Amino acid sequence: MDKLIVEGGVKLTGGIRVSGSKNACLPILAASLLSEEGSSITNVPDLKDISTMVEIISRLGRKIERSGDSVRIFPGEAVNRVALYELVSTMRASIVVLGPLLARYGEAKVSFPGGCVIGPRPINLHLKGLRALGADINIKEGYLVARARRLKGSKIYLGGHFGSSVLATANTLMAAVLAEGETIIEDSACEPEIVDLADFLTAMGAVIKGAGTPTLRVTGVKSLNGVDYRVIPDRIETGTYMIGAVLTGGKVFLEGAKAEHNLALIDKLAEAGGRVEEKPDGLEVYRTGRKVHAVDITTQTYPGFPTDLQAQMMSLVTVSDGISVITEKIYPERFIHISELNRMGADIILEGSTAIIKGVKRLSGAPVMASDLRASAALILAGLVADGHTEISRIYHLDRGYEHIEDKLSAAGARVWRVKE
Ligand code: EPU
Repeated sequence: MDKLIVEGGVKLTGGIRVSGSKNACLPILAASLLSEEGSSITNVPDLKDISTMVEIISRLGRKIERSGDSVRIFPGEAVNRVALYELVSTMRASIVVLGPLLARYGEAKVSFPGGCVIGPRPINLHLKGLRALGADINIKEGYLVARARRLKGSKIYLGGHFGSSVLATANTLMAAVLAEGETIIEDSACEPEIVDLADFLTAMGAVIKGAGTPTLRVTGVKSLNGVDYRVIPDRIETGTYMIGAVLTGGKVFLEGAKAEHNLALIDKLAEAGGRVEEKPDGLEVYRTGRKVHAVDITTQTYPGFPTDLQAQMMSLVTVSDGISVITEKIYPERFIHISELNRMGADIILEGSTAIIKGVKRLSGAPVMASDLRASAALILAGLVADGHTEISRIYHLDRGYEHIEDKLSAAGARVWRVKE
C-alpha cells in the first residue's frame, strides 16, 4: 500500500489547475443510461471513484471508454440491470444507477450500500423519492430489488433528519425526467452538482425547472437524447487548495476555479485572515497577515459551509491564534481526523458533534493514518505546516477523490512524495 510523505515548512506558491468535479461526474455518468443514444462527457477527473462508475456502467452492458479527461458512452442498451456488491461496497455513490435503470427499464437490482467511516449513511430518502414515483422496492439478500411499470409524476417532500440529500435528489430527479406527468420535489438539494446534473439532463431533452432551489419541477418526457457535456470544476478540490494557500501563508492561483461555488468558504477564509481574488480564469488565494485567526464553523447543506471541507478547515485552525468551534450538522460522526491531528500536536477536543480547537504555535510531523477522503486531505494540509516529516498511510482514500494531488502540490512548491510500503 502506498504512503505519502509530506515535508513541512514550504509556502504553497504558484498555479494549480482545478479538475472536474467528482461528485458532479458520478450522477452524470449514471444519467447517461437514460438514453440509448451515445454521450460524451469531458472534464472528467482521473480518479478511482470514476473508474468504479465506469466499471458499473460497463457491467450493465453499455460500451464505455475513457480517454484523457473524456468518457464516451456508446449507443446501446443496458442489457443487465444489476450493480453488484463488489462494486457498490467500494463506492456508495453507485446507488445513483438505481433511478436511471428504473426509469428506463422498469427494473433494477442494486447492492444495498453500507455505512462508512464518516458515519451511518441511510438511504431512506432515495427509497422515498423512487417509491413516490410508483416504484416497488424490496430488500432481498443484501440487494435493493426495484420494479415499476411506468413511473408516474408525483409531489414529493424529500427533506430528511439532516436536511436535503444530494444523491437522493439526484436519484429522484433522474427517475422523474422519464416519469409520466409532473413531479415536484420539495426540499431538494441545491448543491452545484445537482444543478450540473439538471443541466446535463436538460441538454438530453429533459424538462426541469428550479435547479439550484429547494423546489424542483419536472415534466416527464418519453425519451432522451445523447449529448456532449463538460462538467463543472470541483469545488471541494478547489476549497482544499484554497485552505492550503491560507494555511501555509503562500499565494496560489487556482486555474478554472469558480468563486460562486465556494462563497461560504471564502467568507470563513476572510475571517481566518485569508483573501480570495477573482480573476478572469480562476481565483488567487493568499493570507493577508502573519497569523491564521480562529473561526467558528457549522457545516450545512449548500450554500452553507460544506461538510466535505470541515476536516481541511480544522487543519487550518489548529495553528490559529485562538479557539475555534466546529460543529458538524451533516455527518455528526465525521471526526476521525481529530485523533490524527492531535498526534501531530494539535489541541482538539470533541463534545458531541462539536470540536473545540485551541490554536497551537506549531504542529509536529508524525506517522498518521488516513480514514476517509477528506480527512486524508486534511492530514496533508497539516503536514505542510508541521515541523519535519508527516507520513500518511492508507492513502487509497485520497486516490478516490483528489486527482494527482502530490503532483499538483509539488507544482506549487510543496515537498510531497509517494512511497510504496
Ligand atoms: N441522509 C438520510 N437519508 C438518505 C440520504 C441521506 O438521512 O436517504 C442523510 C445523510 O446521512 C446525511 C445527510 O442526509 O446526514 C446528507 O447526506 P447526502 O445524502 O446529501 O450525502 P450523499 O448524497 O450520499 C454527497 C457527496 C458526499 C457529501 C454529501 C453531503 C457524492 C458522491 N457524495 O453524498 O461527498 O459529503 O453529499 O454534501 O456526491 C465526499 O466527496 O468526500 C463525500 C462524502
